[in-house]
Amino acid sequence: MQLRWARGDKMWLGVLLTLLFCWSLGGEENSFTINTIQMESLPDWTVQNGQNLTLKCVVDISTTLQVKPQHLMLFYKDDTLLYNVSSMENVESFFIPEARVYDSGTYKCMVVLNNKEKTTQEYKVSVKGVPSPKVTLDKKEAIEGGLVTVTCSVLEEKAPIHFTIEKLELHTKIVKQKREKTSRDQNFVTLEFPIEEQDHVLVFRCQARIISGIHIEISESTRSELVTVRESFSMPKFHVSPSGVITEGEQLHIKCTIQVTHLAHEIPEIIIQKDKAIVATSRRGSEAMYSVMAMVEHNGNYTCKVESSRISKVSSIVVNITELFSKPKLESSSVRLDQGEMLHLSCSIPGAPPANFTIQREDMIVSRDQNFTKIASEWDSGMYTCTAGIGKVVKKSNTVQITVCEMLSRPRISHDAKSEIIKGQTIRVSCQSINGTSPISYHLLKATSTSEIQKKFSNDPAVFQDKPTKDVEYQCAADNCHSHPGMVSEVLRVKVIAPVEEVKLSILASEEVESGEEIVLLCSVTEGTGPITYKFYKEKEDKPFHQVVTNDTHTYWHKTQVSKEHEGQYYCTASNRASSMRGSSQSNTLTVRVFLAPWKKGLIAVVVIGVIIATLIVGAKCYFLRKAKAKQMPVEMSRPAAPLLNSNNEKVLDPNIEANSHYGYGDDVGNHAMKPLNENKDSLSSDVEYTEVEVSSVEPHQALETKGTETVYSEIRKADPNFMENRYSRTEGSLDGT
Ligand SMILES: *[C@@H]1O[C@H](CO)[C@@H](O)[C@H](O)[C@H]1NC(C)=O
Ligand SMILES: *[C@@H]1O[C@H](CO)[C@@H](O)[C@H](O)[C@H]1NC(C)=O
Ligand SMILES: *[C@@H]1O[C@H](CO)[C@@H](O)[C@H](O)[C@H]1NC(C)=O
Ligand SMILES: *[C@@H]1O[C@H](CO)[C@@H](O)[C@H](O)[C@H]1NC(C)=O
Ligand SMILES: *[C@@H]1O[C@H](CO)[C@@H](O)[C@H](O)[C@H]1NC(C)=O
Ligand SMILES: *[C@@H]1O[C@H](CO)[C@@H](O)[C@H](O)[C@H]1NC(C)=O
Ligand SMILES: *[C@@H]1O[C@H](CO)[C@@H](O)[C@H](O)[C@H]1NC(C)=O
Ligand SMILES: *[C@@H]1O[C@H](CO)[C@@H](O)[C@H](O)[C@H]1NC(C)=O
Repeated sequence: MQLRWARGDKMWLGVLLTLLFCWSLGGEENSFTINTIQMESLPDWTVQNGQNLTLKCVVDISTTLQVKPQHLMLFYKDDTLLYNVSSMENVESFFIPEARVYDSGTYKCMVVLNNKEKTTQEYKVSVKGVPSPKVTLDKKEAIEGGLVTVTCSVLEEKAPIHFTIEKLELHTKIVKQKREKTSRDQNFVTLEFPIEEQDHVLVFRCQARIISGIHIEISESTRSELVTVRESFSMPKFHVSPSGVITEGEQLHIKCTIQVTHLAHEIPEIIIQKDKAIVATSRRGSEAMYSVMAMVEHNGNYTCKVESSRISKVSSIVVNITELFSKPKLESSSVRLDQGEMLHLSCSIPGAPPANFTIQREDMIVSRDQNFTKIASEWDSGMYTCTAGIGKVVKKSNTVQITVCEMLSRPRISHDAKSEIIKGQTIRVSCQSINGTSPISYHLLKATSTSEIQKKFSNDPAVFQDKPTKDVEYQCAADNCHSHPGMVSEVLRVKVIAPVEEVKLSILASEEVESGEEIVLLCSVTEGTGPITYKFYKEKEDKPFHQVVTNDTHTYWHKTQVSKEHEGQYYCTASNRASSMRGSSQSNTLTVRVFLAPWKKGLIAVVVIGVIIATLIVGAKCYFLRKAKAKQMPVEMSRPAAPLLNSNNEKVLDPNIEANSHYGYGDDVGNHAMKPLNENKDSLSSDVEYTEVEVSSVEPHQALETKGTETVYSEIRKADPNFMENRYSRTEGSLDGT
């Protein structure tokens, strides 16, 4: 690397030395520099429109040469090259003859010398003012409704130019119309101006505006030549007849006339208006006419308008008509009357001149007299007016409204339900006065309150709704315009039935009843109007076992000496007249249990055992009878069995059915026992047993008194001789216990 560099360095050095030598030779003959460059303007940077303008570029160059070097000078406007010149001079000029607004802008100058160049700063050139525009017209004479074409131009300048053209009346100097237009690509505009009514001698004025940078340059106003205007038709003129004072009843003519020039393009329309209303028109010809019999109403301001497509001319006149007589006045003694009262209407004119009068109700004449009197009936209600006429002049009066009231008939009261209604149901009470002038105000009276008022505009019934909760009396009051105070209906009585509520079945005392005791079931309701039908059911039975009709809200069912068969589930139902709607109400279900008295159970046991014993005895007897055939043994010991049963019989004196049945049963057993005993007197073992029983004859007494279960069993055991001692000890213990 270092070797290579060393070789390269030597080579470059040789080239550089050669170049330096050559440069020093040429440089000494040919050195130059641009010192300054600037612009100048003659006469100024701001010039008046049309002035000659000269822009100069002044350059200062230093050089080693004897002669001035050739250089290029370039003039720019708004960064666009305008002019270039190759020169050896220090100053070069650019001439703008008659500077215009479009010459305004930013100018600069640049000098190029070999490879060197220098540019001046930017210089602003302003051209002030716009040349006066030229105005030309297409005609010097015009007709109303026609058009004038005006052309305005500034030929020296370039577009865009904004033109303003005004139309003036020469004498008054009033500007009648002003139009403006910007011409984007031409330096002139052509505008049309319509010729209107009241244009006489016209002149047009034009002004031009050009935008220069952010400024607007404005020209002087230039006037056109004169234009004389001819009328197409004259101003309308009124002719009113009769002239002078016009009195009501006279024939009034209002005529409007015009004169039309032969030059007119079209025949105008003539319209006569009173206020906003058109009263006469004419499309052809030069007059319109309005004819009418003069009345005060025709007083006023009449206008006549004459109109062609563009022209409208208006004139007006006030017509004053003298009144012949004042408007009649209708008066009534009263505007509200009762049927049968006197209706008196009177029509009059102030000053009371002789006149023909009529009085009307609506469109029907009721009187051709000044006065109208009659007995009022409902049909006389209505709107009354009267007219008064003198000669041809007829005038209508004010309107009087008369109301004739027919007295109300007594209102009828009724309702839609049956004689009784169920609590909670809505009842519709109707009130109606068949006769009497409507509107009728109804209200419903209740014991303590009054309903809202219902107003009826016919004799149809008023219907009130109510929800009575208890028996109620209604009355109805009606009132209308009649002076008689309101009418009141008869009293309407309504019976309200409360349905049965909350049926409940309960039992007095406990639900567990001892057989033979009393049972009392109570069926009750919290509410319900009598008579109420109560039905007592035992579950699974279709028919009630007890039924009561009462006005009370509760009822009982008694049963003395209940037995097991009374055990079960019970419920009751309650219903009254209101129940046809809802069905009868059912109570809760109550479960009743019947248990046997302990002593009864004992008794039953005794009997059962008795039966068993008897059966055994019979069975035994039969057995022995078969074994020892002809052997006959009279047994006296069989008797003691009877006292046992008899003693039982004496003790159980209770007239209880069950007890009786047991007794009967016992009797039977006794009888059966007796027979085999009499027949089989040879049985030894049985003899021994019965002897034992005889001993125990005292005991049943005690045993029954204690009513102990053990006692009963002891009785059973005493039949077995082996248990005798056992029995004794037990009975004693039991006695001790009680
Ligand atoms: C403007 O220059 C023109 C020649 O281009 C010359 O004829 C004219 O007289 C000059 N106007 C003035 C006011 O110097
Ligand atoms: C200078 O103007 C001449 C014509 O007058 C033109 O041909 C030439 O291209 C211009 N030079 C420059 C640098 O624009
Ligand atoms: C009559 O009416 C016209 C148009 O409405 C109005 O110009 C004129 O002043 C009125 N004249 C009078 C006397 O009111
Ligand atoms: C009309 O004429 C009467 C007199 O005849 C005068 O009193 C009244 O002011 C006039 N009314 C109008 C609107 O000119
Ligand atoms: C009409 O009635 C008025 C009173 O109301 C009375 O002065 C007048 O004389 C009556 N006119 C006629 C024509 O009956
Ligand atoms: C009333 O009417 C009659 C008949 O229509 C007529 O002859 C008479 O002139 C009228 N009276 C008045 C005051 O207008
Ligand atoms: C209603 O009026 C008619 C006649 O206008 C009469 O016959 C009828 O009796 C009246 N009715 C009542 C309820 O006043
Ligand atoms: C229930 O009450 C009514 C009157 O409210 C009476 O007429 C009827 O006899 C009573 N019925 C019974 C069963 O008491």
